[in-house]
Amino acid sequence: MHYRELGRTGWKVSEISFGAWAIGGAWGSVSDTESLAALNKAIDCGVNFIDTADVYGMGRSERLITQLKRDRKEEIVVATKAGRRLSPHTADGYNKANITAFIEDSLRNLSTSCLDLVQLHCPPTDVYYRPEMFSILDGLVKAGKIRYYGVSVERVEEALKAVEFPNVQTVQIIFNCFRLRPSELFFPRAIEKKVGIPARVPLASGMLTGKLNRDSRFAADDHRNFNRHGQQFDVGETFSGVDYDVALAAVEEIRKLLPPGVSMSQFALRWILMFDAVTCAIPGGKRPGQVAENCAASDLPPLSPETMAAVKTIYDKNIRDLVHARW
Ligand SMILES: NC(=O)c1ccc[n+]([C@@H]2O[C@H](COP(=O)([O-])OP(=O)(O)OC[C@H]3O[C@@H](n4cnc5c(N)ncnc54)[C@H](OP(=O)(O)O)[C@@H]3O)[C@@H](O)[C@H]2O)c1
Repeated sequence: MHYRELGRTGWKVSEISFGAWAIGGAWGSVSDTESLAALNKAIDCGVNFIDTADVYGMGRSERLITQLKRDRKEEIVVATKAGRRLSPHTADGYNKANITAFIEDSLRNLSTSCLDLVQLHCPPTDVYYRPEMFSILDGLVKAGKIRYYGVSVERVEEALKAVEFPNVQTVQIIFNCFRLRPSELFFPRAIEKKVGIPARVPLASGMLTGKLNRDSRFAADDHRNFNRHGQQFDVGETFSGVDYDVALAAVEEIRKLLPPGVSMSQFALRWILMFDAVTCAIPGGKRPGQVAENCAASDLPPLSPETMAAVKTIYDKNIRDLVHARW
């Protein structure tokens, strides 16, 4: 496992880190025993950064991480998120009283007196035009409740706006073989500002593992079923917003590029790590086997310029028209 600096925090985090949404909920049924085994495997493989949120199983994901931290002596940075428990989810809801209450809940779930990193959880675009929200976060840092803060964004424009606030340490954004736009304007800007980038949905919700097909079925409580068309939250979070059949066809084209001995998941993750602006990819993992396979991507040799160009060509031909202008 290799490590990269996370913005200006001084932390060096694993290139392949752990996305803890699936072990909380919204991905079909998961057992806590298996989730803990997956988390432990991640630490065994050198992972030292875990991304979670208060809303993932309403604290379930955070509490599993607390259990993990009790069992392990390694240093583990936990990035959580706040804001998505607002109902309705409005810019006005991002105020001192609500955010402070969410943070108190995360402190309890994570059994700590200070959170490592808190990310605003894909707030409405208006929040980025309300400097008072970022002053509130500064106040929480001063009060010792949070060490650092960042944001998780839906759109490139939000990312560009977020890095204007000087104490934003990280911008989490969707970036994968089906989502190239962040690399155009945003990545150079993030390098300039020394802002860390956890790349989320790196496997396009499992699509870029190459294991899905026309007959794949998802449980009723799996967002790949209930949010296929954005019924519950931004459709970009499910299969990266790409139509299922279009995605399957593009995956078959990418499959032809795999170097011998490299799985599709590993290829998709290694592709992300080719971008210096990215701090880490945070693939979700439900089982130890998935985690071990994903972590091995960090040790793979770089992809060739021809392979990188070929992925871009597949994106331009199959995917660009569907996603490029939207996020
Ligand atoms: N708004 C936000 O801030 C936001 C939104 C989305 C995600 N995130 C963060 O980003 C993380 C990653 O995104 P994601 O979990 O949505 O999607 P993802 O990482 O693209 O896909 C994860 C899913 O792919 C499957 N998988 C993973 N590794 C595999 C392997 N080696 N072989 C076969 N299948 C494999 C697993 O599901 P199955 O086994 O069920 O197929 C897993 O749950 C999340 O966990 C979360 O921490 C944040």
